[in-house]
Amino acid sequence: MPKIVITGGAGFIGSHIAYHVRNQFPAHQLVIFDKMTYAADVRNIQDLTAAGDAELVIGDVCDFDLACNVVAGADYVVHAAAESHVDNSFGNSLLFTRTNVYGTHTILEACRRMGVKRIVHVSTDEVYGEVRTGAADETTFLNPTNPYSASKAGAEMVISGYLHSYRMPIVTARGNNIYGIRQYPEKIIPRFAMLLDCGKKLTVYGSGKNRRHYLAAEDFAAAIVLLMRRGEIGGIYNIGSEDEFENIEIAGMIADIFGHALEDVIDFVPDRPFNDWRYAIDSSRIRALGWAPQHRLVDDLAGVVQWYRDNRARFQRLVCDIAGQATDIGTGLQTGTQTP
Ligand SMILES: NC(=O)c1ccc[n+]([C@@H]2O[C@H](COP(=O)([O-])OP(=O)(O)OC[C@H]3O[C@@H](n4cnc5c(N)ncnc54)[C@H](O)[C@@H]3O)[C@@H](O)[C@H]2O)c1
Repeated sequence: MPKIVITGGAGFIGSHIAYHVRNQFPAHQLVIFDKMTYAADVRNIQDLTAAGDAELVIGDVCDFDLACNVVAGADYVVHAAAESHVDNSFGNSLLFTRTNVYGTHTILEACRRMGVKRIVHVSTDEVYGEVRTGAADETTFLNPTNPYSASKAGAEMVISGYLHSYRMPIVTARGNNIYGIRQYPEKIIPRFAMLLDCGKKLTVYGSGKNRRHYLAAEDFAAAIVLLMRRGEIGGIYNIGSEDEFENIEIAGMIADIFGHALEDVIDFVPDRPFNDWRYAIDSSRIRALGWAPQHRLVDDLAGVVQWYRDNRARFQRLVCDIAGQATDIGTGLQTGTQTP
């Protein structure tokens, strides 16, 4: 039976990719390879695993022998596993290099040894660093500005080496901010939804004027499936939307859903050590393959917020029961450790 492996498939984006892949490749065996870090949850994929539609292999992408076993016989490997939260990367940056650079290298080497037919690597628009005006295309110089984006850029450098040295069948996707259900509440939308649901204030970094583009997880998953089928080997594809908002606008939209005036629920906190002002990417290349976002944040936000409210029990301990404010969540700044 043909086989597809999704690393990080029990996390936020990986789980959306897993459901989409299941629909689009019904005859394939689907294996989710995930370490089950704090950001993963078996409930993210329980509809797949309970029905026997996917198998979960719990393990570390840095474990070469296990990685070889998992990817053996795979037609496709989608590599989405990563440490993904910028705030954590300021506190424990070595873990980011271990998982995101060494882990990607390990998966690539395992795929090379096992003769995997196609790999889609999930990267990020943050590898470009700040884009104050205009939009970066795929040829724009990489200029990462924090340990997370540096580790993602490092992974892409390993890929470049494998493309040139071994002619490996790799396609890279650089996505902008993704929103949707099942996201760990360290990221802005689930965090703000849960904070207001718990009766807490919204903690906004700095002036709140930093801007981000938002793309629905379903649209991103569709783009990944398109790249599995039609992405050019060695190609890099920006995957982004036109939906651009300041952080303070996101706060305002969520406050509005709860029926609050923003000024009554907002609490400004000191900014990150460095916080990119804006990211922006030109997605013409994947749009030329026929992809375009089907969702808009303004249409989806109320439903997404409601999902977090409906699943409050799952996130209660992380957001509602902690002492202090939301900056305690997943910032990593309190850990001070550098244990990979
Ligand atoms: N969230 C976004 O807005 C966004 C935007 C662009 C790109 N990305 C990229 O998309 C991918 C997925 O991001 P996400 O937001 O779903 O992250 P996430 O933190 O929700 O999920 C990451 C998953 O990877 C797994 N994982 C972590 N370390 C692992 C290891 N050593 N071995 C095996 N599994 C491991 C975790 O258990 C988790 O299931 C990442 O590569 C990220 O860089 C995310």
